Amino acid sequence: MTDSIESRLKEDRRFVPPDEFQKRAHVTSHAEYTAMYRRSLDEPEAFWREHTQDLVFDKTWDRFHAWKLPHATFFEGAKLNASVSCLDRHLDGPRRTKAAIVFEGEPGDTRTLTYFELHREVVRLTAHLADLGVKAGDRVTIYMGMVPEAIVAMLACARLGATHSVVFGGFSAEALRDRINDCQAKVLLTQDAAWRRGSVVPLKQMADKALEECPTIEKVVVYRRVGDARAHVTMKEGRDVWWEDLMGRTASAASLELAKKPPAHDAEHPLFVLYTSGSTGKPKGVLHTTAGYLAGVHVTTKFVFDMKDSDLYWCTADIGWVTGHSYIVYGPLSCGAACLVYEGAPNFPDWSRFWQIIEKHGVSILYTAPTAIRAFIRAGDEWVQKADLSSLRLLGSVGEPINPEAWTWYHRVVGGGRCPIVDTWWQTETGSILLTTLPGACYSKPGSTGLPMFGVDIAVVKDKGEDCKANEGGKLVIRRPWPSMARTLFGDDERYKAAYWSQIPDVYFTGDGARRDEDGYFWVVGRIDDVLNVSGHRIGTAEIESALVSHPIVAEAAAVGKPDDLKGQALVVFVTLKNGVTADKNAKDKLAEHIDKEIGKFARPDQIRFTDALPKTRSGKIMRRLLKEVASGATEAKGDTSTLEDLGVLAKLRADED
Ligand code: PRX
Repeated sequence: MTDSIESRLKEDRRFVPPDEFQKRAHVTSHAEYTAMYRRSLDEPEAFWREHTQDLVFDKTWDRFHAWKLPHATFFEGAKLNASVSCLDRHLDGPRRTKAAIVFEGEPGDTRTLTYFELHREVVRLTAHLADLGVKAGDRVTIYMGMVPEAIVAMLACARLGATHSVVFGGFSAEALRDRINDCQAKVLLTQDAAWRRGSVVPLKQMADKALEECPTIEKVVVYRRVGDARAHVTMKEGRDVWWEDLMGRTASAASLELAKKPPAHDAEHPLFVLYTSGSTGKPKGVLHTTAGYLAGVHVTTKFVFDMKDSDLYWCTADIGWVTGHSYIVYGPLSCGAACLVYEGAPNFPDWSRFWQIIEKHGVSILYTAPTAIRAFIRAGDEWVQKADLSSLRLLGSVGEPINPEAWTWYHRVVGGGRCPIVDTWWQTETGSILLTTLPGACYSKPGSTGLPMFGVDIAVVKDKGEDCKANEGGKLVIRRPWPSMARTLFGDDERYKAAYWSQIPDVYFTGDGARRDEDGYFWVVGRIDDVLNVSGHRIGTAEIESALVSHPIVAEAAAVGKPDDLKGQALVVFVTLKNGVTADKNAKDKLAEHIDKEIGKFARPDQIRFTDALPKTRSGKIMRRLLKEVASGATEAKGDTSTLEDLGVLAKLRADED
């Protein structure tokens, strides 16, 4: 079997789903996928009515969709509560005692929460948040690690109708402060510290620093995860409360009643804000609403992951990113899936950790990122091979293009040659997966993200919006609204219009370049705007630049990406220092630490290069194309300083062309 698959891979670079998988899949043939896809475009209301029956609408919609671009509504007039759709609806049947969350802590502790238990915790927290004064429409920031309580927090907000804003635990105090202030959050949920590679990340300490400049925060709830001297916490009287103390209290009868029987919210009620990088220094607060988002993640979880009640599904993303929102929380729980949640790093205590987790718990679906896959390849097959991975039946990839070599390794070494791979393309703004191959229905081609998902009218076009021919490279755009699309940017609708809907009129521009091949398969090459994708993390070059120029020694800075075997893209920054500042290692260290402080360690540049001047056009625009070439090795810098002399000549030439 394996051999024949391998030989097919070599022959035409296609992978056909194995018979065993196909027979049992939710969608079993290409023809069935095509018919469903056509129906989703031609009869959208009927399609979504059929596939959202499970979601517990308290009231059905008056109008399925309406749009006045760039704004759109879906399921208008309907009422539902996302937390009820994810929890309460499972309590009447066998899922009541089924694992909703199987938690593996980094130190090796494990915990299982059944749907009953998860519901109980969510109801309790909802009641206490209501007692703390949180109301529908308020914003709540969640700054936590990968612990079940982070999920409890999200679902409690959804239950109340409060809009959550999860800030990735790797962000610095400054980044947290800006995100809290942008959405004017009333309450912060955090934890004492998070485990990371055996040491602790002091989340509460960082939160305290952020809160020095966050006037809207009234209460802070602190979950005790580490609980010893390594996580020293100071509680501020009247503002801070321990999670366990709060949950140990008796909530008021009114709040308890509200939490047990929560109100249904409008279909377009804001569910969450999630900050992501764009092409200016200020992160964008992507806003998702309730019904359309939930419909998108529910349907894709069911069909893309071929989710069954017998599965144990593991998405390795952090809940601080959209993948965690959609495919750890709302998608899987709305399907009644059992989800593994892992707290720590893939290589702690060593590179066998992921594979041991799969063996220990019997994971059947693994959803991870190409960066992780490439790191595993580098670490060596032996770590994978030591574990029994026979429970796996499906693999997924997300976050960046997966190179065919990594695809083939993932398929062969992790999947034992028998598991289909779903390469899923989507974005924070799209809410749910928009491109992939349904695993039992369509063959996949390593490196291609496959075909459009239901309701998605996606195309590759030229600058003015004309269709590209097969295999011709162009811009990846979406030509009509889809249910899970972002509705706006929090507090900045103008930016929403400008960022996504203005390049090509009335069409959503993804920021990605792509081509569609002769079989209709999409190949996404990556961002063609000023956004980088470093290890699957979206980083705006402008964000890095504005952080750098906020340091007193910096005169000017430019950030660019360079291809990297492991990270996909590496971050290279070119910096001109102020007069009299010495360009040495000390200056480099200062700037690296400054980025840690302003954004977070994950955004630390891979290279900091000093230069006397940045190449610019006559109108003063930094010539990034040129800098990219230099970063990729066209002009090697020697030592700590590079005068970019050669580059200066090039720049002059190019400027003359302009
Ligand atoms: O460039 C694409 C890349 O990640 C971007 C979206 O980043 P973010 O909003 O942080 O969401 C990441 C997780 C959904 C896209 O514009 N991207 C995501 N998935 C893929 C991908 N590029 C190629 N193939 C993918 N499967």
